[in-house]
Amino acid sequence: MIRKAVIPVAGLGTRLLPLTKALPKEMLPIGDKPVIEHTIRELVESGIDDITIVTSARKDLVQRHFAPDADLERELRVAGKDDLANAVAELSSLAHITYLYQRGPYGNGTPVLNAARVIGDEPFMVLWADDVFVAEVPRARQLKSAYEATGAPVLALMPMAVEDASRYGVPIVEEDLGGGRLRISGLVEKPRPEEAPSRYAAIGGYVVTPGVVTELEAATRRWQENPEGEIYLTDALHRHATANPVYGQVIDGTWYDTGSPLNYLRAQFAAALADPVHGPELRKLARES
Ligand code: G1P
Repeated sequence: MIRKAVIPVAGLGTRLLPLTKALPKEMLPIGDKPVIEHTIRELVESGIDDITIVTSARKDLVQRHFAPDADLERELRVAGKDDLANAVAELSSLAHITYLYQRGPYGNGTPVLNAARVIGDEPFMVLWADDVFVAEVPRARQLKSAYEATGAPVLALMPMAVEDASRYGVPIVEEDLGGGRLRISGLVEKPRPEEAPSRYAAIGGYVVTPGVVTELEAATRRWQENPEGEIYLTDALHRHATANPVYGQVIDGTWYDTGSPLNYLRAQFAAALADPVHGPELRKLARES
């Protein structure tokens, strides 16, 4: 049973600078919501509402977005704007969110290990807040079902063009089990296209088990003895996969990697076109331009 999730947000968002100098990339809007709100709603819709956000001091806007604001609510009610007051109130009761400040070596394995110390001895989901999905069944629910069926770590995957391999973790596929489920025996982080072991990209959604956390702890110990490089979740999953079952789940849905400028624009464009009020007018404008 997966009850908890971790969202690391402490990254610098360098691919979108200078836009992300003051504004955390997780707070960039897609449609009428910041990226991280889409991620949190996805988790809640998938039955996971105990969420740890691993953050840094420069990302305090994330915290403010989900914090209660009694003054704002009261003013809106006095002004007769109950709908808006309810929307503001709903944000702070969406999920049980705990914030942790990231501590430790660089790399995306560190926030996962920070959170694991608080979560304890149970499997949990990790989502990067810059991969957004439009899917009939939320990505987090698809991952959760894969874990329930296998009892092993699971990675969210999407088919990719081989020339994109150097941007992603690429799984070594051992067996195709049907229904988008693959047994994998390892992962190569950002390989050159000619060395890519498959045509799938790991896309920032993982079910992490205590065995994977043990690998992250070992990686951190090695780093403390010899502080070189970064601690990657992909490396821990790879090491775990060499001796234990690990699965990939190809996600059914449309994926927007909002950390890249073009894909961020595509996500905004798709959300604008899907807007029930303004979508039809925007569609007309897009055709005319
Ligand atoms: C991280 C992971 C990589 C994964 C990617 C998905 O890389 O290390 O394995 O494919 O997220 O978005 P980053 O994008 O942080 O460089």
